[in-house]
Amino acid sequence: MNQKRSVSFLFIAAVSGLIACNSAGNNKSASADSSSSAQSTTTTGNTAASGDATKGIGSHQSVQLTHPLDDKMIAAGKSTYDVKCQSCHKLTDEKLVGPGWKGVTDRRTPEWIMNFVTNTDEMIEKDPAAQKLLEECLVRMPNQSLSETDARSVLEFMRNNDGKK
Ligand code: HEC
Repeated sequence: MNQKRSVSFLFIAAVSGLIACNSAGNNKSASADSSSSAQSTTTTGNTAASGDATKGIGSHQSVQLTHPLDDKMIAAGKSTYDVKCQSCHKLTDEKLVGPGWKGVTDRRTPEWIMNFVTNTDEMIEKDPAAQKLLEECLVRMPNQSLSETDARSVLEFMRNNDGKK
């Protein structure tokens, strides 16, 4: 009987390993095989994101973050989320159509997020991390035609969701 139990444990472990789109946290190990310098080991979230090096492709190469977070932007970002993103993204780490947003600001740089949401098609076509996501999720995120202001507000909303200050 014991044996049976450990077998089903193995099974569960194997299955959950497969659902990569679900477990956003797996990105770290996933990015290790992209031959860029994956030297940086575990420090805090932000360093991990910059260890992935990538700002993505688009006009956003230097995003100024505010500390503390900007409440107005968080509120505006939430409205955008409710209308345009909620149907595909949860705020937890659970996958819906796309990955859950929990931890997204740790696994991506602010620039990458801004480029992804304002330049979605080119990012999915050319950015290695975005292509990998497409392979995992099997659905291509449609361009949401966000203005720069909308995009920045959604980023603030994501930072708030991740408990950033
Ligand atoms: C129709 C479903 C859909 C909608 C609506 C949608 N997304 Fe996505 N999103 C996806 C999918 C699928 C992915 C995975 C990447 C891919 O394959 O295109 C994704 C990926 C992302 C990522 C990268 C997540 C990560 O873990 O790196 C961000 C950021 C993102 N979306 C932001 C947004 C924002 C902001 C909105 C609303 C303005 C939005 N999405 C609306 C489906 C959607």
